[in-house]
Amino acid sequence: MSEKRIAVITGASSGIGLEFLRLMLQRPEVEEVWAIARNAQKLEALVRTFGSRVRTFSLDLSDRTSWTKWEAVLKTEQPRITWLVNSAGFGKFGDYTAVDLSTSVNMIDLNCSAVVAMGMICLPYMPSGAHIVNLASQASFQPLPYLNVYAAGKAFVRHYSRALNRELKGKKITVTAVCPGWMDTPFFDRARTDAKQTVRVFWGMTTPKKVAQKAVRDAAAGKDMSVCSAYVKFCHTAAKLLPQRAMMKIWLMQQKIK
Ligand SMILES: NC(=O)c1ccc[n+]([C@@H]2O[C@H](COP(=O)([O-])OP(=O)(O)OC[C@H]3O[C@@H](n4cnc5c(N)ncnc54)[C@H](OP(=O)(O)O)[C@@H]3O)[C@@H](O)[C@H]2O)c1
Repeated sequence: MSEKRIAVITGASSGIGLEFLRLMLQRPEVEEVWAIARNAQKLEALVRTFGSRVRTFSLDLSDRTSWTKWEAVLKTEQPRITWLVNSAGFGKFGDYTAVDLSTSVNMIDLNCSAVVAMGMICLPYMPSGAHIVNLASQASFQPLPYLNVYAAGKAFVRHYSRALNRELKGKKITVTAVCPGWMDTPFFDRARTDAKQTVRVFWGMTTPKKVAQKAVRDAAAGKDMSVCSAYVKFCHTAAKLLPQRAMMKIWLMQQKIK
């Protein structure tokens, strides 16, 4: 392995991924941040803003050929990956007819398959003491009608991350599922559809900065889950105590959907 110690962040050009990028640049164990997203211009702007410690890779992680390209980059460069943050992801609001087949499956490809792929490709380059941070969501706590594929995918990420964390205990590599409630990011621009019955009430909105700071603290402390606010903690407890049918009813009442 080369001695270059790096943090890899997917979805680093926006929202909470951008906050993780800022935090990683402050850490002594990170010499460079390798930022992944699709839009090359937004990635170039990162280098202009943060300087040459940021390297960028324009990849569509929902496309499996990008995984092969990424694997080849690591093989050539042989870095030490001290942090992997899987933040790239998107959701869609509305009922099952409002989100077409290809978009629904693309959501699973990015939100679930790419998280597994990035972990498996990066792990051979991760030394003892390294951290994987996977963006799950409060949506992972219960089934969410009108956000159905997204919420089910986030449940996958949460369960997968916690199980992988246990498997990697012997290697002293931690995996943390971050479970934020609503965060004020451009996520909503992509999530909105013209569906009549849709998600439109966003209780407990917080900033991506707060969530990212707590997530980095929790990952460094070896926690397998990171829950930021009292409101999300309350929802997590409720989802463990109440039947899922009751939780769905509360969600629909909150969203004013009959
Ligand atoms: N915002 C919320 O309320 C909220 C709540 C809970 C969990 N989360 C989760 O937090 C994570 C980050 O969301 P965010 O709120 O920060 O959203 P965001 O501001 O929309 O950021 C999404 C990032 O992912 C990148 N991306 C999107 N599609 C991609 C693809 N196919 N391949 C590679 N990169 C891709 C985007 O860049 P390009 O478009 O250039 O590719 C962007 O950098 C997601 O996993 C989301 O599900 C968000």
